[in-house]
Amino acid sequence: MPTLAVALEARETDWVYAPGRRLTGMGFNGSIPGPLIEARVGDTIRARLTNSLSQPTTIHWHGLRVPAAMDGTASVQPSVEPGESFDYEFTVPDAGTFWYHSHVNETEQLERGLYGPLVVRGPDEPTLDADRVLMLDDLKLDADGRLAPFGDEHELHEGREGDVRLVNGRQEPELAIAGGQVERWRIVNAANTRFMRLSIGGRPFSIFGSDGGLIAAPVEATEVLVTPGERVELAVGPFAESEVLELEALPYDRGRGEPRRERLATIRVGPTKASSASLPDVLREIESLTDDGSETTRTVSMKALMHGGHGQRDEDVRVGELQVWNLVNETSQDHPFHLHGFFFQVLDDGVPAWKDTVNVPQKESVRIAWLPDNRPGEWMYHCHILEHHAMGMMAHFSVVA
Ligand code: C2O
Ligand code: CU
Repeated sequence: MPTLAVALEARETDWVYAPGRRLTGMGFNGSIPGPLIEARVGDTIRARLTNSLSQPTTIHWHGLRVPAAMDGTASVQPSVEPGESFDYEFTVPDAGTFWYHSHVNETEQLERGLYGPLVVRGPDEPTLDADRVLMLDDLKLDADGRLAPFGDEHELHEGREGDVRLVNGRQEPELAIAGGQVERWRIVNAANTRFMRLSIGGRPFSIFGSDGGLIAAPVEATEVLVTPGERVELAVGPFAESEVLELEALPYDRGRGEPRRERLATIRVGPTKASSASLPDVLREIESLTDDGSETTRTVSMKALMHGGHGQRDEDVRVGELQVWNLVNETSQDHPFHLHGFFFQVLDDGVPAWKDTVNVPQKESVRIAWLPDNRPGEWMYHCHILEHHAMGMMAHFSVVA
């Protein structure tokens, strides 16, 4: 199997996020988002992180089933100090849309752009006319157009949302698509806090992938909620030549802030081209890990997590023992729960899919099932609202053999 060598240098970057507008960002190899890493299932990725920032950093490979030691968290490696480097090496067992991002001082480092996309392709991918990654984000600026200061109490609790909406590091860009064609859009929500309830000019699209690659069968929709950390894959189009559509985030009430409808990008449809796109009715066999009736093995209280602070530990899980977790959210805001290193299935959910991040709505609970495969070590879960994570809304646990 091929080995892919990638060099990722984290450094301060002059970030032109709109014509004539710039700020000092942090980018991998000077680009925001960082370079697209493309691999095939079974490849080995050897990534050297060089830290040219003036503060420590690491890389977490969000969604990849890496060995514990490669997970990029403080419990498995010392942070990479300025001027130092670290070699990550792992194979990629699953096809899908993933992303890599800093796992140190995340509220600032991700806001400043220290993240990038990683796509793994499998042997049986649906054929669409184009394949693109859209990393969604936002920026919070002060009145003078500089990055607003980080991490006051209020922001930690409410999350950080800004008025500048970004697609692939650019403010409300124009996207060109050929008339008559159907594209594969791999969408990543890389924002600190902003929930994105996506609409593409109100037109129907097919959802056919989520965090862990293809879902069992495509689902037709006109909107889809993507919370921080989550990914969706959409079949978008066909549109008629010279149409102009908006990619928008529709109002969504996450229990904080004022839900509003906001533009993310403008889509311009160019001259019509032939299409060879075809999305099969059945994409993949996904066996359910368990049925809805199965007993809960652990309850995770979002409220306790939120008030627990750093260093909280949850009980060990044993390799091969089915986990059925009830994520209970007694708080008055939504929390996107992210499990490192393992995929889970959301019970009571209809179409089977593999997920690593799931929104637990305010005053509701969500049950998930997952099976720890043989990768013992230190793992964690946390809220992917980065300010909540920073506040300590997280827990470590061990997977033991
Ligand atoms: Cu993308 Cu620990 O997270
Ligand atoms: Cu949260």
